[in-house]
Amino acid sequence: MRQKIMVDVDTGIDDALALLYLLADPRADIAAIASTAGNVPVEQVAANNLALLDLCRAPEIEVALGAAQPLAIPLRTTEDTHGPQGIGYAELPVSARPLSPRSAAQVWVDVARSAPGTVLGLCTGPLTNLALALELEPALPQLLRRLVIMGGAFQHPGNTTPASEWNVHVDPEAAKVVFDAFSAAPPDRRPIVCALDITETIEMVPDHLRRIAEYACTEPDTIPDPGDPLGMRSAATNPIVRFLIDAVRFYFEFHRQYGQGYLAHMHDPFAAAVALDPAVAVLRPATVDVELAGTITRATTVADWAGMWGREPNADIAVRTDPAAFFDQMIARIGEFAATVYPPAVQEVR
Ligand code: RIB
Ligand code: CA
Repeated sequence: MRQKIMVDVDTGIDDALALLYLLADPRADIAAIASTAGNVPVEQVAANNLALLDLCRAPEIEVALGAAQPLAIPLRTTEDTHGPQGIGYAELPVSARPLSPRSAAQVWVDVARSAPGTVLGLCTGPLTNLALALELEPALPQLLRRLVIMGGAFQHPGNTTPASEWNVHVDPEAAKVVFDAFSAAPPDRRPIVCALDITETIEMVPDHLRRIAEYACTEPDTIPDPGDPLGMRSAATNPIVRFLIDAVRFYFEFHRQYGQGYLAHMHDPFAAAVALDPAVAVLRPATVDVELAGTITRATTVADWAGMWGREPNADIAVRTDPAAFFDQMIARIGEFAATVYPPAVQEVR
């Protein structure tokens, strides 16, 4: 049974892998893609989304442009993390596919209304456009089958300030709107939250790329290696593998630069895997709220696990998973997909 998914991304390197994963997985039926400003400006996010659909020779999938700015503060982007265009060292031709005439917020609402109780929402970027959609349609928590969010940090350091995670940090007001609104979701349909606590256990290393290349039957002569000069480009014959290597190499170099090792946290593909099968993670209910007024704690997500606030839980937080099993699944899906889209016999050579 295919799952209709409304995907909201700030494409970025790991967002791109999440989209690839969903395009590769037969269980996923992408209803539309909302482009949210975050890693890079919203126009670049949308261009990346359209170009990825071209790379994957995907069918027509609506890509909508979201708000250019967060709800209440100026946009902050992070090209140092994801590259000047948000896809690392990879370069994709500008797509001729048209953007949706509808805003991202309107697409959220229209998709949810079109099939009440069946659409799953997946957010792997700031929650700006979902918050705007909630203004248009306050019943979204009842209309969506479920919501999966990559964001926040609970018993874990932040990655943007000592206490806050990037997606929430970019638009903390939107995050609070979403967590408050989804307090009204039924207990069996609370948002599933994939925070840094769990996504920073999802560490992609070069051998994962090698395995994807193997599945795709492409001989990549350039699996990233810590000893490589910065910015090497792949000559892998499979265009999807070439994209992955060029994008993730940038992410490896970024994580190493900040002392985390030559690896890349696959935050968003993990959230996509949870969207496809929540059973890949152990979930624990909590009441989540977002700090807006703190000076050094602004954008911190706080989980009340024990009901100290006297409020019903509004989230199911992913607390445990099997990273190796996740990578086995993702590698197979993306590798086989790459070989299907670009069969080895007819791969274009750069
Ligand atoms: O904090 C990690 C999150 O911020 C990921 O979604 C990454 O793509 C960035 O958006
Ligand atoms: Ca993201």
